[in-house]
Amino acid sequence: MTGLFITFEGLDKAGKTTQIARLAQRLERLGYTVTATREPGGTALCEEIRQLLMKKQSERLVDEAELLLFSASRAQLLRGRLWPELDAGHIVLCDRFADSTTAYQGYARGMDLEFIRQLNAYAVGNRWPDLTIFLDLTVEESFKRLGKVLDTTQAEVDRFEIESRNFYEKVRKGFLELAAGNPERIVTLDATHSVEELDEQIWKIVQKRLPRLES
Ligand SMILES: Nc1ncnc2c1ncn2[C@@H]1O[C@H](COP(=O)(O)OP(=O)(O)O)[C@@H](O)[C@H]1O
Ligand SMILES: [Mg+2]
Repeated sequence: MTGLFITFEGLDKAGKTTQIARLAQRLERLGYTVTATREPGGTALCEEIRQLLMKKQSERLVDEAELLLFSASRAQLLRGRLWPELDAGHIVLCDRFADSTTAYQGYARGMDLEFIRQLNAYAVGNRWPDLTIFLDLTVEESFKRLGKVLDTTQAEVDRFEIESRNFYEKVRKGFLELAAGNPERIVTLDATHSVEELDEQIWKIVQKRLPRLES
C-alpha cells in the first residue's frame, strides 16, 4: 500500500475537525487526493453503526456491545474504503481511530486493556496509521470550549460533574500513555496553541512524510 494514513486524536474540542480541514486544503492545493473521514462512520454501513452508537435508545447499549460496534465500524471502514484508497495513493485523514477506543473504553471505562489491544489489532489488520496527531488539551480547557465550566472553588461541586471530569482525566491519561509508548507513530501537540500555529506545526510534520506525487 502506498498513500499516507494519518489519524487525529484528542478530547472533544481539541481542534481535530479544524486541523483536518486545514490539512486537507493544503494537500489538495498541492495536487494530492485526500480522503477525510471520521470514526465511527465513513461508509453507508459504518454510518448506520454510528447511528446505533450515538442515538439515544430506550435500551441501554452495554459497554461490551459498544466496544464491539466501534471495532466493527473500524474493520468495515478500513477494508471497505480506506485500504483501497490508500492503495490508490490517497492521503487518508481520519478523525479518531483505534487510540480513542483504548483511551475511552480501556483507560476511562476500565475495560480490559490487553483485550482492547488485541481487538484493535484484529480490526486494524496490517495497516496502522503512518502518523497520529494527538492534540492534547487539558480537561478544563476541553470543558471550557464545550461551554461547561467546572467551578472547583464551589463548596459543593456537582457529583456528576466530578465524575465526568474524572472520566475525561482518564481519557487524557490514556492518550498520553499511548503517545509515550508509540513515539514513532504518535506526535503530541499542545492544543492550546492557536489554530494557525498548530496548522504550521502539523504541516511541518506531514510534509516530511508525503509520498511523491505521480505526474
Ligand atoms: N487552537 C485552537 N484554539 C482555540 N480554539 C480552537 C482551536 N482549535 C479549534 N478551536 C475551536 O474549538 C472548537 C472545537 O474545535 P473542533 O475542531 O471542532 O474540535 P474537535 O473536532 O476536536 O472536537 C471550535 O469552536 C473551534 O473553533
Ligand atoms: Mg470534531
